[in-house]
Amino acid sequence: MELSELENIAKEIDTYSIENPETLEAFRIHYIGSKGLIKGLFKEIKNVSPDERKAFGQKLNGLKNLAEDRYKTLQNSFSQKNKKASKKTEDWTRPAEEVNLGSRHPVSLVMNQMVEIFRTIGFGISEGPEIEDDWHNFTALNIPKDHPARDMQDTFFLSKDPDTVLRTHTSSVQVRVMEKEDPPIRTISPGRVYRNETISARAHCIFHQVEGLYIDKSVSFADLKQTLYYFATQMFGEKTKIRFRPSYFPFTEPSAEMDISCFFCDGDGCNICKKTGWVEIGGCGMVDPAVLNNCKIDPEKYTGFAFGMGVERIAMLKYQINDIRLFFENDVRFIQQFKSVR
Ligand code: DAH
Repeated sequence: MELSELENIAKEIDTYSIENPETLEAFRIHYIGSKGLIKGLFKEIKNVSPDERKAFGQKLNGLKNLAEDRYKTLQNSFSQKNKKASKKTEDWTRPAEEVNLGSRHPVSLVMNQMVEIFRTIGFGISEGPEIEDDWHNFTALNIPKDHPARDMQDTFFLSKDPDTVLRTHTSSVQVRVMEKEDPPIRTISPGRVYRNETISARAHCIFHQVEGLYIDKSVSFADLKQTLYYFATQMFGEKTKIRFRPSYFPFTEPSAEMDISCFFCDGDGCNICKKTGWVEIGGCGMVDPAVLNNCKIDPEKYTGFAFGMGVERIAMLKYQINDIRLFFENDVRFIQQFKSVR
């Protein structure tokens, strides 16, 4: 083996055409692989004449470095190209992936809407405890012990203490406000209430109410009508009509049940209004003087009205939901439907 042959191999290594990772691999196998040309030449050293052996060895090492350098350089450049190529597949014009936003529960949506409507006509918000004493839930509201009106609201009693109940209505909050504040009082009490009822499509043992109270000098039934009329038109649309039917609540006198004209059929009669053209949305009345007395408000000086509405009932009407149990199952397929609703 002549030194000049090594020169030729060096030229070959320099000019070997390498265009892609496959030809680079062929280059590696041919020159620097374990069975490659250079490994073979190292075995030849023993056959080189002793005076040339040193120069041959040095040249051969140079050859090995040359092949390895070319291999490494090209390997780097191919892997860089590869990275760039994979970057190219990112399409910056593609629409962004959907961000899964949460949604408000329909009860919260409707409750917030109700609160907002009353807020715009000057009602503040009052809250009170869900575990209530007998006085605030019943007695102060003119429902003494053993009064048959207690049967109107099936009650959960806390077992050890018959005087402590889960509030059956948020009228209990109105009592607390009247005890604490002097008239004029204009407030609504939104919140969760409990009734010991058999659960069905129409009734649940938990639901939500928004109750309202307005006490001042010479508040009249006309004020009550106008306030609830305003609410109905804001909640269900300008065309909504209201009507009052005489009713009975121990804490109001006179008492009434309020209906709105059915907004599905405009009063013509449909399944929602059971062909009557009207749907009931709550109770109301003029605060009974006995209740004012119980709360140390002089009924000779002040009068007031009160009303109470079920939030689920209004949500069911508004969104045509036919089973109250859906509100409490927290099935996301149900809850997510209210995403676009404010
Ligand atoms: N508290 C009543 C109930 O839960 C609803 C109600 C009726 C509230 C008349 C009132 C009212 O404030 O005046 O069934």
